[in-house]
Amino acid sequence: MKSNTLIINTLVSLAGASPLQPRQLLNFAALDAAPQPTLHTPSIEEKPHTVSYDLAAATQAAIANPLPVEAVAKRSLDARTDDSCTPLERGAGPVPIPDTAEAFLAYPDFSSAANSAPVPTGYYLTFQNLNGSNSAYGYSGYSTLNSYDTAECARRCNNVDSCLAFNIYFERDPSLVPGSLCPNPPSNTVIKCVYWGGYISASNANNEGQWRDQFHVVIAGSNGYMKNQVAEIPGWNGVSLGNAAINAPLNCLGQDTYMGSKIFTTSYFDVGLCAAACVSQNEYNTAHPPDTGAPKLCRFFVTFLSERNGSPEGQYCAMYTQSWDSSYATNDGQWRGDDHYTNDYVFAYTNSTWKNDVVCPGSNSTTTTARRFLY
Ligand SMILES: *[C@@H]1O[C@H](CO)[C@@H](O)[C@H](O)[C@H]1NC(C)=O
Ligand SMILES: *[C@@H]1O[C@H](CO)[C@@H](O)[C@H](O)[C@H]1NC(C)=O
Repeated sequence: MKSNTLIINTLVSLAGASPLQPRQLLNFAALDAAPQPTLHTPSIEEKPHTVSYDLAAATQAAIANPLPVEAVAKRSLDARTDDSCTPLERGAGPVPIPDTAEAFLAYPDFSSAANSAPVPTGYYLTFQNLNGSNSAYGYSGYSTLNSYDTAECARRCNNVDSCLAFNIYFERDPSLVPGSLCPNPPSNTVIKCVYWGGYISASNANNEGQWRDQFHVVIAGSNGYMKNQVAEIPGWNGVSLGNAAINAPLNCLGQDTYMGSKIFTTSYFDVGLCAAACVSQNEYNTAHPPDTGAPKLCRFFVTFLSERNGSPEGQYCAMYTQSWDSSYATNDGQWRGDDHYTNDYVFAYTNSTWKNDVVCPGSNSTTTTARRFLY
């Protein structure tokens, strides 16, 4: 059973002090050192609600340098009282006959609702008509719907700051909390609209329900939608790179433009965290200049959600001294043993006032190995 506990913490972990680390590899040392993001799936007893995140604290953690490692504060669960056989929320969806999990999964109205649902304005579909709900990054709460209404679910998501994605589905829930006196109560069909501040995909739509005593909770008609937006950050020009991160070569002077990376695991996906880290890195590097030469300054960052076998690892934030255009976005993930790491929801931002001042040998202009983005 999933716990209702939300881990509220402000951990952040440094990736990569070494600027010579190969750019095409994720910084596994940092990934391993960072706390695992909290995964959460609404349980049957949970009431509709919205989760709020402390973005200011997350930003503070993102810019902290040197990076703090604070204790993870887990909110303790109060001792549960025995609530068996108490009524649960009535769902608005139809209850198939016979009232079994098998009939629910095979019920054609659920598939047809999922397959014919319109894609709301400002969103794109990432998966359709699955029998599982998501376990993703940035759980932001949920509400119940009166009908399988993707436009309404999108409207609600738009009103939740951290919501970048939503998962809508039919859930077969018990009408009473199952217990020894009511081990398999009649079902209720609840239509859920779950908000996520992270990437939702078929590979993390893997929560296919659970047994509660002899009652089988199952899910049908599960669709996922992501916002298709490039968040605006003043002073930066952003582009979406889909699911491929930048794989930057050395520049024409043989310099490594990669500065290092951080991973954020305690909030939701917010490009502003990486922007704040980049700006603060510049303040730090300017205050601590090298013995010779100019300090490295972050003018370009790439941020995305890293996933291991579909399961979220956190928000990755890689910083560079110069901008690389989307033709260098070739890093769509990698294998480490049997684990497949993927990069999803990748965005790159360039300092909007920075002018490339790298002069390549044999050239009298500032050119080409670091091409600017075309806006
Ligand atoms: C969902 O369950 C139904 C009934 O078992 C099955 O026919 C269908 O293929 C399942 N869908 C997926 C995507 O696995
Ligand atoms: C962008 O670059 C300019 C000039 O290089 C610098 O003054 C400014 O602080 C930078 N902006 C950010 C947001 O880092």
